[in-house]
Amino acid sequence: MKKIMIINGPNLNFLGIREKDVYGNDDYESICSYIKEKFSDKKVRIDILQSNSEGKLIDFLQSAYFRNFDGIVINPGAYTHYSYAILDAIKSISIPTVEVHLSNIHEREDFRKISVIASACIAQIYGKGKDGYVEAVELLIKDEN
Ligand code: DQA
Repeated sequence: MKKIMIINGPNLNFLGIREKDVYGNDDYESICSYIKEKFSDKKVRIDILQSNSEGKLIDFLQSAYFRNFDGIVINPGAYTHYSYAILDAIKSISIPTVEVHLSNIHEREDFRKISVIASACIAQIYGKGKDGYVEAVELLIKDEN
């Protein structure tokens, strides 16, 4: 059975509270349940983790390496735009990683258009809300990965 780790960064635990015009009304827990439900009949184990701290996100990535995960889905929140430490962590673990953003980062402020982690990821999915996570997992469990 494939093991996929979904990692969410800062302020994503505030979904349903923060900027609802941008991120929608669904709260964090309901989004996690939605994703797990989509794969309930598939042979895949999905762990979903969240932290507001950069170091903790790196600890999650390293734990995926030690625990032999097959794929990573990561939404690093604002760290996307400036965390070279998260870039290095993704490069270190050599596990196929998909970058996900709920909003369309390419149609917002200029600073959001830049992802410093994109070069280490196999795909970037944005602007599809919670379905972006589902698409990312589907990509990772396809046979060629
Ligand atoms: C986000 C986009 C980031 O720019 C922002 O800082 C977030 C969420 C998204 O999911 O659209 O916290 O990653």
